[in-house]
Amino acid sequence: MKIAVLTSGGDAPGMNAAIRAVVRTANVYGHEVFGIKDGFRGMIDDVMIPLNHQSVSGMLSRGGTFIGTARVPEFLDEDVRKKAIKHLRKREIEGLIVIGGDGTYKGAAELARLGLKCIGVPGTIDNDIAGTDFTIGFQTAVETIVDAIDKLRDTSQSHRRCSIIETMGRYCGDLALHAGICGGAEFIITPENPIDKEQIIERLKRHRREGRRHSIIVITERILNVYELAEEITEKSGFASRATVLGYIQRGGSPCPEDRILGSRMGAYAVELLNDDIHGVCVGVRDSRMIHLPFVNVIGQKRPRNELDKLVKKIS
Ligand code: F6P
Repeated sequence: MKIAVLTSGGDAPGMNAAIRAVVRTANVYGHEVFGIKDGFRGMIDDVMIPLNHQSVSGMLSRGGTFIGTARVPEFLDEDVRKKAIKHLRKREIEGLIVIGGDGTYKGAAELARLGLKCIGVPGTIDNDIAGTDFTIGFQTAVETIVDAIDKLRDTSQSHRRCSIIETMGRYCGDLALHAGICGGAEFIITPENPIDKEQIIERLKRHRREGRRHSIIVITERILNVYELAEEITEKSGFASRATVLGYIQRGGSPCPEDRILGSRMGAYAVELLNDDIHGVCVGVRDSRMIHLPFVNVIGQKRPRNELDKLVKKIS
């Protein structure tokens, strides 16, 4: 069989580990693998490279995705997708493994509807895919954020300030939640746990009276303007505040061991599924075991919340 693999949407540490596992597992079964460059863009423009054991050597520890990624809005157009499929058919490629987030899954589900054997692998730092406990890249991004919180705490406590730290996550609060817990944040604001601004200000006033030297607020992007929040807190609580938007630094870096393992397991499992002629599904990990679910059960769904949301209320 000939299999193609692509990465799409925001890059995530561990995507290379997944591609490597796809290539090496496929080789064990005698399948040929093509890497599609820059996500669905390469499928439309017919830019694909053969991948073998050697081409993925040394990739395990590399951040980003060596075959490139992109966001390709025109892939929403069915004619564009049909053209893209033709490029795969021309090379007699039967199976496609897509590594990405919800938008990527939507594209793959449409390709599956047009008859291509597609498998989804969750790769995004946001951890916002319903069919898995963890997405590839999430745990590395949490480490990066925790490192930033630790550093910001140093300067915060030196200056008796409040630090507001904005994380990525799109509409999912997991990055802020996990990193906030690890970094001992006083407040964690996420789409799932919105916090009343007045309540924060009252608590900060109290902290100030108690003589606390610093306070850390970790907040998911897109909730509010953190620079305005810093000004308001400074004005109303008397706690001088500074905002830091961590931005794209969260997406980079060498994947942590958990993401190397997750990427490897998921990439290999995706090939096993194609090998067993199972497709139209996406891979996940649930309670440490590999699972697969139909795209329709996962796309647009929210991950069930876990006990961490409740933990925050007790310990922050
Ligand atoms: O999906 C991953 C992510 O990093 C989100 O956390 C963030 O909102 C978005 O991508 C940024 O996207 P772009 O790279 O298109 O600016």
